[in-house]
Amino acid sequence: MKRIIAFLLSAIMVFGGTACGQRDTTDKPENFVLVKGGTFLMGSPEDEAWRSDDETQHTVTVSDFYMSRYELTQAEYEKVTGNNPSSFSGADLPVENISWLEAVAYCNARSEQEGLTAVYTIDGENVSWNRSADGYRLPTEAEWEYACRAGTTTPFYMEVSPSADEANYYGHYPYMIEENYFSQGDLEVQPGEYRQTTVSVGSFEANPLGLYDMHGNVGEWTWDAYGAYGTEEQTDPTGSATGTRRVYRGGGWNDFAKNMRSAYRAMMDQDKGSASIGIRLARNAVAGSGSVAGSSAQTGGNTGAGNVLIAYFSWGGNTQGVAQEIQSQTGADLFEITLVEPYSSDYNTVLDEAQRDQNEQARPELSEHVENMDQYDTILLGYPNWWASIPTPIASFLEEYDFSGKTIIPFCSHGGGRFGQSLTAIAKLAPDATMGEGLSIHYSGGSTLGDDVAAWLENNGITAD
Ligand SMILES: Cc1cc2nc3c(=O)[nH]c(=O)nc-3n(C[C@H](O)[C@H](O)[C@H](O)COP(=O)(O)O)c2cc1C
Repeated sequence: MKRIIAFLLSAIMVFGGTACGQRDTTDKPENFVLVKGGTFLMGSPEDEAWRSDDETQHTVTVSDFYMSRYELTQAEYEKVTGNNPSSFSGADLPVENISWLEAVAYCNARSEQEGLTAVYTIDGENVSWNRSADGYRLPTEAEWEYACRAGTTTPFYMEVSPSADEANYYGHYPYMIEENYFSQGDLEVQPGEYRQTTVSVGSFEANPLGLYDMHGNVGEWTWDAYGAYGTEEQTDPTGSATGTRRVYRGGGWNDFAKNMRSAYRAMMDQDKGSASIGIRLARNAVAGSGSVAGSSAQTGGNTGAGNVLIAYFSWGGNTQGVAQEIQSQTGADLFEITLVEPYSSDYNTVLDEAQRDQNEQARPELSEHVENMDQYDTILLGYPNWWASIPTPIASFLEEYDFSGKTIIPFCSHGGGRFGQSLTAIAKLAPDATMGEGLSIHYSGGSTLGDDVAAWLENNGITAD
């Protein structure tokens, strides 16, 4: 009898739900959920509205892991680091405005304080991950999506797209609003509150695994450097082996619903932060093995030095005004991005045309071209925020030239949505360019435009004329 029980126990340990029968390494940390591993389709189906091309569906298996029920709060961050970089202030609000590099440093510091083995080896910009360490870490992109989906295959873990009472996001813009802007009766959920701030973690209902705020509040850094998925089957993938742009997931208080879908991939340079990006901690539930090498920092880029071109697209004149202010302060060459077939001058019509182009990922033909792009080291790239991203003429422009080794510094005129997801869109279209610190301007910028532009130029190392 004893032998039978011993056999059964060892069989459970070997076949106990992990990819290769690793042993349990930790007790469940407080406020963490044990996410049982399994196999799922990562990415989105081709007929999912507002998907991007980089959400290629492929089969992924993840091992068991622990994930925090909540986004990391400001109180938790401050307790370990002694400081709080957040733009909004409140102990129970999620910490934000931390770069990916600060996020991994936090993980290590907290691990050390709690007597756990630090997961990351941090050497300046190079970070490697010891997969067998039991300390706090960021989830991988695959772990994040697996946990968010909780077995669902719909665009969001709730089968009906979220209302502003179920998630903290740019509630004026629920899922599919772009196509139903003038016919809101067709929407699954009606436009709701846009809070314009983060809210206390756990304010809404949890997903089926007991995880709060997987959609909205703040986007959440993952371990992965951004790269194409490919179509082959993967087990415990860890993202691109190179690159220093890191993926963040889930969308934040300032995102349209389409950009907090379970499959949506946002990214940003690992040394930059934003008021709508925070973190959610994970830990191993089974010992991983090996180490994931650090990504090398981007080389060849410069920071705003050299010959500067101001290139902009403007529909109503606001971005043009900002471009002209920059030109008057720098004396740099000015280039307007124009179309062979311009958009309608009627506001309601252009709203339609712009969402149609974005949905089709159109590349409208440009009527003018930069004669000799080689002579420029830095491109100050201006555009209005259109449907929470770049207007597609900017995509045409970015695809027309080779920006490797150059620096792109975005400036964006908006009506309240700041950059939206335009920085992610630019990073995807110009993967080999260095990105400078962007400037977002509310409409035409008002009386502080000159000072705002001057401070931004200085911040990016661009000297005034
Ligand atoms: C088609 C279209 C879509 C827009 N979408 C957004 C948006 O998603 N978020 C936002 O804050 N403003 C949005 N706006 C407002 C513009 O970003 C804002 O008015 C900007 O100042 C326009 O710049 P421009 O005069 O250079 O065209 C949109 C405007 C248009 C015409």
